[in-house]
Amino acid sequence: MTMSPTSTNVVWHHATVTRQRREQLNGHASAMLWFTGLSASGKSTLAHAVEESLHQQGCRTYVLDGDNVRHGLNSNLGFSPEDRTENLRRIGEVGKLMVDAGIITLAAFISPYQKERERVRSLFPHGDFIEIYCNASINVCEQRDPKGMYQKARKGLIKDFTGISAPYEVPANPELEVDTGSNTLEDSVDRVIQLLARRGLIAAGDTNREK
Ligand code: ADX
Repeated sequence: MTMSPTSTNVVWHHATVTRQRREQLNGHASAMLWFTGLSASGKSTLAHAVEESLHQQGCRTYVLDGDNVRHGLNSNLGFSPEDRTENLRRIGEVGKLMVDAGIITLAAFISPYQKERERVRSLFPHGDFIEIYCNASINVCEQRDPKGMYQKARKGLIKDFTGISAPYEVPANPELEVDTGSNTLEDSVDRVIQLLARRGLIAAGDTNREK
């Protein structure tokens, strides 16, 4: 798989309806909220709960979720370092389109490598990529084990399993770190929403915005 375009005779077509105009129509800015953490750390749960809160505030949102995307767009990819890199490259590009479409996009992927997260970050204008580290210890995640994956990984039935037989590189400088091992879901959602309000993405204290 090559990272640079293979087609040569392609020219970018500029749209008259721009991201800025879409954001104006929506009444809020768009951005990429990137949730990273171990399997069972609570990324998807938190992303969906934040989406629910934003939706109730009248925001346009969409969640790109690791397990779901791997059923469709990325169904041909496994968990080798190369496949994880390609998984994130595609999500980054899809996310970029969604942000351009004016949508607050929430991505929940283990995304274990710092370099690959930085690569995705570099696709977005400065400030539009918000990295949220869902910090739950491997012990907590393994105890939760909602899909029985850790048990299988310990038995050697799943290879390259993050946290067991493959690495997870803790984010060096995330915009937000949430203790999803011990915080309540409500507290974690509040912290994300407060961050978005502080950054001016949504209006502060705006819980029931008129459409
Ligand atoms: S990522 O590393 O490429 O970002 P992604 O978030 O898409 O991973 O998918 C992770 C999900 O795939 C996990 O929640 C788990 O249910 C499942 N999975 C299956 N095999 C593995 C594996 N070897 N390592 C991690 N997760 C796995």
